[in-house]
Formats: sequence, C-alpha cells, structure tokens
Amino acid sequence: MHRHVISINGEPASTIVVGRGVEDALVEFAGTRTSRLIAVLCQPTTMGLADLYSGSLVDEGFQVTGYTVPDGEEAKRLSVVEDVYRFLNESGFTRDDLVIGVGGGALTDVAGFIGGTYLRGVPVMYIATTLVGAVDAAIGGKTGVNVDGKNLAGVFAHPEAVLIDVDILDRLPDSLKREGAAEALKVGFIEDMSIVEAYEREALGVDLEEIVNRSVAVKVGVVNEDFRERGRRAILNYGHTVGHAIETTTGRSHGDSVAVGMVAEGAASRAALGFTGEERQRAVLEQVGLPLEAPDATAQTVLALMQRDKKRDAEGLRMVLLEEFASPKLVHVDDATVQAAFEGIGLT
Ligand code: GLY
Repeated sequence: MHRHVISINGEPASTIVVGRGVEDALVEFAGTRTSRLIAVLCQPTTMGLADLYSGSLVDEGFQVTGYTVPDGEEAKRLSVVEDVYRFLNESGFTRDDLVIGVGGGALTDVAGFIGGTYLRGVPVMYIATTLVGAVDAAIGGKTGVNVDGKNLAGVFAHPEAVLIDVDILDRLPDSLKREGAAEALKVGFIEDMSIVEAYEREALGVDLEEIVNRSVAVKVGVVNEDFRERGRRAILNYGHTVGHAIETTTGRSHGDSVAVGMVAEGAASRAALGFTGEERQRAVLEQVGLPLEAPDATAQTVLALMQRDKKRDAEGLRMVLLEEFASPKLVHVDDATVQAAFEGIGLT
C-alpha cells in the first residue's frame, strides 16, 4: 500500500492510496468523522463496485445512501448536478456528511464538483476505478462539468482521499488500459521517461501499480507547487489543447483524443522549439494501440474550439510544448506552429 499526500500551504489536503484492496483504507478515512451519513455516487458501469463498497461501510455501522448518474460524459452536465443536489437535500445531507464518488474520470469530476459546491463545500472521497482516473482525473482537485467545451465550469476542491485498487485496474478491458496509457504516457513525456520506457518494453502489459505510483508521484509534486494552475501545473495539459478540441468535435474517448493531441503538439514542439522526440513519441503511442490521427475532425472546427480553450489568455492561444522529453514549456503559439500541429495529425 503506497500513500501520496497533496499539501496546500504546507497542510495535508488529500491522501492518495494505491494498493491491492482498499476496503480497509475506505473504512479508515470514512471513520475520521463523527457523522455516519454517506452518499455514494456512481454510474451504471460502476454500480456493482459501489454496492460492494457501500456494503463494507454498512457493515461498519455507516448509514449509506446511493445515487446513480448517467454513464460517461453524460454525467458531467449541470442538470445532473442539480438532480444530485436535490437528492442530497432530500437525504438530509449536512456539511459533516461525506460524498464518495466511485468511478472513472467523468464520475469523479462531477462528484468533486458537487462536493465542492453543495452547501459551499462538503467532504468528498473518490474510489478511482479506471486508469485515466487513477493517473490523472481523480488526482489534484480539479473538478468540472461540460458546458459547450470540456470542463468549462468547475471548482478546485480536494477530495480528502482518493483510493486506487490496482486489482480493479488489472481487470480493466484493454480499451480502458489503452485510454489510461495516454495520460500515463503524457506524464512520462513531460517528466518521467521511465513510464515511457515501461510502455516501450511491455506495451499494455506494464505493471500498473508501478505506472500509477509513478504518475501519481509526478502529479502530486506538480500540484503541491501550483495547485491553482497559475504556472507550472499547466504542463499537465500537454496534448490537451488539441486533444480537448478533438474530443469535443469527434466524440472520441479522452485517451484517444489526448494521444492525437500529443502527436499534434509534438509536431508543434518540433516546429517551434526544435523538439527531436517526435518519432519516439509516435512509436510508443502506436505500440499501445493509440491513434495518431483523427480523420473525422477538420482543421476549421478544431481551430474554432481551440480558440475557446481555457489555456488561452489575453495574448492568445497557448500550448504546452516540449523542448525535449521531460522539458515542457507553456508557450503562446503563432499560426505557423498551429499549422505544424495540424499537419502532424493530417488535419486539413
Ligand atoms: N488534468 C490536468 C490537471 O489536473 O492539471
């Protein structure tokens, strides 16, 4: 069992537990409060797991009530958030009670948003059940719902604990291991090449406990320095300027979209900063089965969506680019660099 701690202003804010079997940690963290009421939020795909964890909590004397939101990104809608607020209100939920989100990145994003806003903030815990969630979405206190673009509304709010059961991750279908590989490889490209080397050696057969621990360690280090993304945290968005636009316009999975986004931003990195790792990056993405292009997108739509990206500021569009592996920079990009990004993924 490995524990990572996110601290804000020197105070511990969130503990991330990575191991095999997390019921004991669940009861431990839930038991740190005097209140015994817990609302478990899940999606249809995680209902079985949510029931199991709820059972463990009931056995320990907690009063557990459950709510199921729609699957996938459909959960991240303000209308869903309002439904859950009503449910919490009807359940007599107070600021002393606890919300537990059981699911992947979409579920923890919306559970965190609800926890961060209901009654101006109630305690939240996540049980991250996908690799994307475990290596990225559930870690670091970003929450959000989609409006026109991805995560356009959200709050920074830390879950008290994030529990990651590697036995669950090991049982995921390859499609979800591949999706998570995109985010884990992103962490590799920007900071820890041992993650990239592991995927180069073993493709989807990598040791997920090792991959998750390394990815979480990098993310915790970055978030501890810059929780509110005033600077360094932006490096975690490598591949995401183009990736979010691809995801919105094509409806492809987050992992597939980020993979294509990294190919594009790798090409932009070559054009703007002389990055020489483009081929190696493409090769490892291909080796794990991630896409390198999005033929179903058009340059015009992707550009229009990028113009609304959160990373844009008054001076224009910004992207995270690599000078070399493990050396990322957030830079304003000119038209030629955007053009190079689009050419890198065959966008016309
Ligand atoms: N997913 C990027 C971040 O948490 O900052």
